[in-house]
Amino acid sequence: MTAFQRCINPKCRSTFGITEVLHRCPTCGSLLDVDYEWDKVSVPKSLKYFEQLWSERSNPVRFSGVWRFHELLPFAPIDQCVTIGEGQTILQKNDAVASYVGKDAGSLFLQYEGLNPSGSFKDNGMAAGTTHGRLVGAKQAACASTGNTSASLALYCGVSKLMKSVVFVGSGKIAYGKLSQALDYGARTVQIRGDFDDAMQRVQEVSKKKGIYLLNSLNPFRLEGQKTIMFRVLEALRWEVPDWIVVPGGNLGNSSSFGKAFIELHMLGLIDKVPRLAVVNAAGADSLCRLYNDEGLRWNGGDIDTAKIDAFYAQMDQENRRADTIASAIEINRPVNLTKCLRALDFCNGVVRKVTDQEIIDAKAQVGANGFGCEPASAASVAGLKKLVEEGVIGKDERAVCILTGYQLKDPNATVAYHGNDRDFFESYLGKHGITEAQYANRPVVVDNDIEKILDVLN
Ligand code: F0G
Repeated sequence: MTAFQRCINPKCRSTFGITEVLHRCPTCGSLLDVDYEWDKVSVPKSLKYFEQLWSERSNPVRFSGVWRFHELLPFAPIDQCVTIGEGQTILQKNDAVASYVGKDAGSLFLQYEGLNPSGSFKDNGMAAGTTHGRLVGAKQAACASTGNTSASLALYCGVSKLMKSVVFVGSGKIAYGKLSQALDYGARTVQIRGDFDDAMQRVQEVSKKKGIYLLNSLNPFRLEGQKTIMFRVLEALRWEVPDWIVVPGGNLGNSSSFGKAFIELHMLGLIDKVPRLAVVNAAGADSLCRLYNDEGLRWNGGDIDTAKIDAFYAQMDQENRRADTIASAIEINRPVNLTKCLRALDFCNGVVRKVTDQEIIDAKAQVGANGFGCEPASAASVAGLKKLVEEGVIGKDERAVCILTGYQLKDPNATVAYHGNDRDFFESYLGKHGITEAQYANRPVVVDNDIEKILDVLN
């Protein structure tokens, strides 16, 4: 078998078969990667190879923006790959948003992952994760979620009928757009009285006890699918590597998979430059930022100072600090992929920043006014870029790609509260997160049902 699972800890490096269902390395407890005997895989000599596959778009697996790159994630036979048409996303050069963040025209690109079937980047991972679930004969799959993973899992299970889905969400913690998807697509939905970190803990216990297949980003097969977001960014840039990738950080699956994508592309000689990675936390869910910037936690060749992490979480618990942000998708204080993200930051010479909810919601309004719109967590990438340009870390002329991870309609309340006239709604939805202003609000006008008055309003 050319594909296998491997522990990411360089001191362990234990390997396991592709059909073993594991959440962590049974030897040392570290996270696992999917790895390949690349010399036995027919890897294309140039990324240009993938262009010819556009002509095979009548074949669903080549239509898929994930499986079009099957050669770079070849853990399942191509005829076994699950797809519902994910990855038809676009990279849009956006000069208006560039101007907002203080960048030169032509230097900012937005990668719209909200255009996926369930409206978020998770579908890239779910196509790969459910493919592995099918390989191992899973009958039931579960995840904990701040909303998008649950929507995606529910959709993939609902459409493919390969397995039933169970989703664990924090009660009152997920935006209605996402909750409505899980319910509509038929997932068994368990609302735990707690937050995402509680749900994540419980889903691991439950899936172990009941033998349910886990489809959180702890699952290394899911992250294989998310590598393709980077392949599509490169494809859209005619295979030119940008200077920066800017991504919101929650459970840190995306940043981890982007790092793995670049490690592999570089090792395979398919790129000659590695972009820098900027991971952006919400200020109210900033464990990575604190650990990386304040505590100096690093990958350190895989020899991570885990005592530092343990002490950090112990202190967090002692202070009873819970994640709290309008960007509910990234309202996470214990990111399960922390160590993999450190590896990505190391390889990509990365930086980590945090942005306030006010910065996030303003950036979201700017994206909405000038693009396809996004949910609050996605706008953290734009707000983070603005900060990094102001700091001079990212040059005005450097090519930067912000990943817009989820679609605007995921959280309509956030948008209506910001733009609307209802101050009570503003306070209850946004004000409680410390948001005080709506400087980019596009206020609706209320007018009597009278033609003269309506015409007056439009003057
Ligand atoms: N943006 C959106 C829209 C998300 O839904 C998430 C994660 C992230 C960013 C953060 O990505 O976890 O890979 O760092 N949402 C997860 C969920 C946790 O359950 O839907 P990450």
